[in-house]
Amino acid sequence: MQKTVSKDFKYLKGEINIPPDKSISHRAVMFSSLAKGKSIIRNFSDGADPKSTLEVCQGLGISTEFKNNELIITSRGKFTPLKGNFFCGNSGTTMRLMTGILAGQNFDSVLTGDESLSGRPMKRIIEPLSLMGAKIESDNYKAPLKIYGRELNPINYVSKIASAQVKSCILLAGLGVDGVTSFTEPYVSRNHTELMLKAMGAGVNIHGKTVSITKSELAPINIEICGDISSAAYFITAALIIPDSDIIIRNVGLNPTRTGIIDVVKQMGGNIEILEEKETCGEKVGDIRVKYSNLKGCIISGEIIPRLIDEIPIIAVLATQAQGTTTIKDAQDLRNKESDRITAVVTELKKLGVSIEETPDGMIIRGKNSLAGGVEVETYHDHRLAMSLYVAGFVCQKEISINGFEWVNISFPTFEKLFSKLH
Ligand code: S3P
Repeated sequence: MQKTVSKDFKYLKGEINIPPDKSISHRAVMFSSLAKGKSIIRNFSDGADPKSTLEVCQGLGISTEFKNNELIITSRGKFTPLKGNFFCGNSGTTMRLMTGILAGQNFDSVLTGDESLSGRPMKRIIEPLSLMGAKIESDNYKAPLKIYGRELNPINYVSKIASAQVKSCILLAGLGVDGVTSFTEPYVSRNHTELMLKAMGAGVNIHGKTVSITKSELAPINIEICGDISSAAYFITAALIIPDSDIIIRNVGLNPTRTGIIDVVKQMGGNIEILEEKETCGEKVGDIRVKYSNLKGCIISGEIIPRLIDEIPIIAVLATQAQGTTTIKDAQDLRNKESDRITAVVTELKKLGVSIEETPDGMIIRGKNSLAGGVEVETYHDHRLAMSLYVAGFVCQKEISINGFEWVNISFPTFEKLFSKLH
């Protein structure tokens, strides 16, 4: 589907509620499936990725029911698989976390994915799981993954990369293993798994960059999923770069392992404010007010990278409207996402007229750019590219056309509708 974008409104004004967090939605379904009893999940994401997780769990014999805005999951605390082959769609979170869960079961299973997911690296989970005694066959460390369920042993694993998916995979495998399993990462990645497992009664300990887990039974949860800061990032950016904008985004998840974008906006001199903060199910939540701002470039590197990893494409758009140079470093893992997001962002923003340079682990953006537009751009089957280019379209002089815009449905089916509420 091709989408044309131009700015046919003056500014963004008003209030919106951002859709539910994708990462937390995945985890709520998976962990409820492991918990004996009835769990209630309110405000479950309507993105295609969490739906993939839901379908995998259904295939594993878990009963699920939607009632009004509630998803009710009933589990016997163990799986009774209805089939052996499970399709994870486009979702890396589904495949990597489910592999951790399935490796220690007493049955075999196969996980498959779409073209993009089948090209993504799985060595990062197969290696540590193998050290735990797991048997997983793959196509040169890529999906499909054939998992031979068996009893596992604990490990203390030190990871070279900061990845919540790898960390969660190992913790979930450790949940069913006698002894203590630990995972250490170079920087702290998102910690939704640790927080939710703890809230469900698991023996989880967090010591800086190390998380450990002991064999535990999970209790069912009753959870309301907060808004996704990664989805809010497109609105935050649009309000910052469209003159006279002033918006409020309600009920956004503000877990400190996810708020790197807010720190970057502040560092760039952006007018952003947290209006009210509360806590639900161990997760911080709040309202964000953002206004149009004069921005300046900055350096983004090191420990902040995992705290804004999914926001880098839209931060690149933001940087085009900042005075001076913005340098993004230490983000080489961006090349392993739904697309190679370094090459994709640089190639497509260049087409719009941005002065941007690709580096092995990031990019250098020279602002402030007046973007010519008037061209067709590509999404690389990547939802975050589609949404970032859409926002870039608002600051182009001429209309742009985005090919493959339908990929927004992976995380944010109501993306465009929500923007039109603010015109
Ligand atoms: C996610 C972790 C991150 C992120 C992805 C969601 C998660 O991936 O990019 O969109 O829910 O755990 P990595 O663990 O590969 O960094």
